[in-house]
Amino acid sequence: MQIVVKNEFANCLGSRRVVACVFVLAIVGIGLAGCMTTAQMAPPVGPGLAEFASARGMDSQTLERGRRVYLTQCNTCHSIEPIERYSLARWKLIAPEMAAESRLDDSESADMFAYLYYSRQFMDVIAAPVPSAD
Ligand code: HEC
Repeated sequence: MQIVVKNEFANCLGSRRVVACVFVLAIVGIGLAGCMTTAQMAPPVGPGLAEFASARGMDSQTLERGRRVYLTQCNTCHSIEPIERYSLARWKLIAPEMAAESRLDDSESADMFAYLYYSRQFMDVIAAPVPSAD
């Protein structure tokens, strides 16, 4: 079993059989995170997110700094978690706990919370069905 899993994993990394790769990774419990890019796990601050945040009084430089904190400080004990994996409510419980684990200072924490909360909220907004016109 060990060897089969290893081979399949090597296949996944080396081949273009993306569907098989995702399937195998899901089965061995590595989950989709195994095939996710950084941009999928922690979306960059694009125009959509920047506008969404700006309309709520949050500037995109803060979000950029927060993303950097997230990507550089949150992968020492475990790998980066896809932001979409947890609801906004869950993040609001998890993030302060993990900021303490990472020994972030107040400004790093504030920037990271802003990035996590606004980007997570924005994911729900863009995932919501567009209301029908009639
Ligand atoms: C000092 C080690 C350490 C650092 C640094 C760390 N974590 Fe964690 N993290 C853990 C441990 C241990 C767990 C699993 C136990 C738990 O949930 O407390 C965990 C779990 C998590 C979870 C899953 C929580 C759940 O409820 O399933 C998330 C999300 C997370 N960390 C995010 C972060 C973020 C964001 C950062 C950066 C601010 C971070 N971690 C930095 C040790 C760390």
